Amino acid sequence: MSNAEAQVVQEEIDLGMANKVIDKYINMKGALMPVLQEVQDAYGYLPEPCIHLISERLNVYLSQIYGVLTFYAQFHLEPRGKYIVRVCMGTACHVKGAGRIGDTLSELLGIGHAETTEDLKFTVEHVACIGACGMAPVIMVNEATYGSMSVQKMNEIVEKYRAMD
Ligand code: FES
Repeated sequence: MSNAEAQVVQEEIDLGMANKVIDKYINMKGALMPVLQEVQDAYGYLPEPCIHLISERLNVYLSQIYGVLTFYAQFHLEPRGKYIVRVCMGTACHVKGAGRIGDTLSELLGIGHAETTEDLKFTVEHVACIGACGMAPVIMVNEATYGSMSVQKMNEIVEKYRAMD
């Protein structure tokens, strides 16, 4: 994304949802984490203008907020896809060909680990064991788990989600 495009995206952010979340916590101690979480839930990620708003309204330094955001992997500073595809790269999955599954997914979507397609439909994440080793290799799409993955199955799953809204 170019700087000009980033600027446009920023200007389009409606701060209404963020203000509502902050209103709920405004006089509470320890409000920062729940506010960050709920604002992220509302937007799907934490847009920069929201972070500035949180800093001003909760009276917390920006540097402190960014410290929290970079420490916890659960926070995202970039827009994410509607479908988060997690490819397990844990040992059991790796032994059973997770690498090939990950490569196939990258070829199909044109993106790699931690990237999002331009249409904001898919985000790909390579993750450690997701606790379903008996079904290795495993992927997840949002909350749905798919085991015994093959290249063929990966194709079908991507097609299925592409066809969905
Ligand atoms: S290693 Fe993939 S689910 Fe455990």
